[in-house]
Amino acid sequence: MDPYWKDEDAGLYLYLGDMREILPALDVQADLIVADPPYAETSLAWDRWPDGWPTIAAAHTTSMWCFGSMRMFLDRHDQFSDWRLSQDVVWEKHNGSGFAADRFKRVHEHALHWYRGEWRAQHRDTPTTADATKRAVRRKQRPTHTGDISRGAYLSEDGGPRLMRSVLQVRSMHGRATHPTEKPLGIIDPLIRYSCPPAGLVLDPFAGSGSTLDAARQSGRRAIGIEADERYCEAVARRLSALTLPAA
Ligand SMILES: C[S@@+](CC[C@H](N)C(=O)[O-])C[C@H]1O[C@@H](n2cnc3c(N)ncnc32)[C@H](O)[C@@H]1O
Repeated sequence: MDPYWKDEDAGLYLYLGDMREILPALDVQADLIVADPPYAETSLAWDRWPDGWPTIAAAHTTSMWCFGSMRMFLDRHDQFSDWRLSQDVVWEKHNGSGFAADRFKRVHEHALHWYRGEWRAQHRDTPTTADATKRAVRRKQRPTHTGDISRGAYLSEDGGPRLMRSVLQVRSMHGRATHPTEKPLGIIDPLIRYSCPPAGLVLDPFAGSGSTLDAARQSGRRAIGIEADERYCEAVARRLSALTLPAA
């Protein structure tokens, strides 16, 4: 199958079409899928849930971050039966999209991490962030969670790296987006760095403006994107063609 656009040197490929047809035809295994599917919460023409897509995705990776709203995940929970949930991250935006004047102003979205098979077989790099405050944090007890308990000895001192918090504050693309639901690089980058090894392969079945491919490229990963709308494929091709190489 011919890609709509590619940069073979960078390992970037973009396909135009319905992911339910393209993905099975690609015969590819990705280290990670980053999915930002239509939430089916608006009347926009493209905002239709592609029935069965999580099962199709499950044949092509064992690790997937999926953006969505709580309503979307609850309404479609049966569609994720091939997957196990590991954790969720909240993206807090600087402004929000309120659909109703009689509810709290919504300034966040969720990204859920799903996996298949053994948790210990999943790639995950400890997500750290620089901490400017000087303090030592020494866990006296191992945390009661399902992760790698050896990391219970995680230590941070004198402004060194600390575990990244699960609420990530990142400015939305409001006012500078080429796609109505465009994700900023700042929210995708930590998910890729956590779940995909350097030079690994990220797959985005709902590429939109190409944020995932851009973030993958800039973090030294390869990427495949699929997008059903040709106008957005054009925008992705323009965006990625203009990318400069990351510093060596
Ligand atoms: C929520 S948007 C993704 C936005 C993207 N994350 C970004 O940052 O620009 C979902 C995208 O999926 C595309 N789409 C909808 N149904 C699709 C399908 N069955 N296969 C592939 N793409 C589809 C839509 O055209 C839309 O651009």
